[in-house]
Amino acid sequence: MEGEELMSNTVRVWDLPTRVFHWALVAALAGLVTTAQIGGEAMPWHFRFGYTVLSLLLFRVVWGLVGGHWSRFASFIYAPRTILAYLKGRGNPEHAVGHNPLGSLSVFAMLGMLLLQVGSGLCSDDEIAAAGPLVTLVPGAWVSLATHYHADIGKLILLGLLVLHVGTILFYRFKKGEDLVKPMVHGDKETALTVPSSRDDAKSRLLAAALFLGCVLLVACLVQAR
Ligand code: HEM
Ligand code: HEM
Repeated sequence: MEGEELMSNTVRVWDLPTRVFHWALVAALAGLVTTAQIGGEAMPWHFRFGYTVLSLLLFRVVWGLVGGHWSRFASFIYAPRTILAYLKGRGNPEHAVGHNPLGSLSVFAMLGMLLLQVGSGLCSDDEIAAAGPLVTLVPGAWVSLATHYHADIGKLILLGLLVLHVGTILFYRFKKGEDLVKPMVHGDKETALTVPSSRDDAKSRLLAAALFLGCVLLVACLVQAR
């Protein structure tokens, strides 16, 4: 209806750096899974994709502190009682703008498990050709544990989280009639609420690029450590 149209306003929810982070992460993970399947000669690329994911994750942690409003952790860290209330159907309408209380748990789980996957990869050794750059720096027992976790456990946990992630997005699309993917592509949501937009101007994008470059350099130093 026209009246409702007038009431709704466009809010920038996902700033460009967050969107680039997301789709680059998806691409790098596709590369990691493919190279892990091929093994052997593809392993140097497995490592490169892994370093890319680490740089992206470090960037996302920093962006969670200084990024646009809806990308900041402060906008989607919820108290347990807020999560419970949300589950009981007593959520706040604002929860539908950024990551909702349940969605935030899945975001933190994905970021945490991805960090663990990368961390264990850095200390993994297949005892044939591929050894992570930190293998020589940590005790042998850690290497066995990390390799077991990386190749047998972590990948299954990540797979479970990703099935849940994509499943939830499909559920929203086909059962609740809400397309969450478009905002992750163009950045905006329509809402009748008066809520802040995420800052997403040239200056903040430049800051993001500089921060990402810093993360890449940090990772480059880390993997030279051996
Ligand atoms: C999120 C990032 C990563 C994912 C999802 C991932 C995924 C995988 C998977 C699924 C395997 C098992 C292949 C198989 O079934 O044999 C594997 C093996 C391996 N990955 Fe990663 N990996 C990641 C990051 C890294 C990083 C950063 C490194 C090191 C720099 C690394 C080093 C290794 C090594 C050495 C193996 C061989 C272990 C073995 O087969 O015993 N990975 N990775
Ligand atoms: C490798 C696979 C994927 C990983 C690791 C992943 C990871 C993530 C992460 C970490 C976030 C939080 C974004 C942030 O605040 O930084 C997120 C959000 C999101 N992802 Fe993915 N994602 C994957 C695949 C996909 C795919 C295939 C789609 C589309 C079908 C998708 C759609 C979305 C959407 C729409 C959001 C925003 C959810 C919301 O509105 O709260 N993701 N994803």
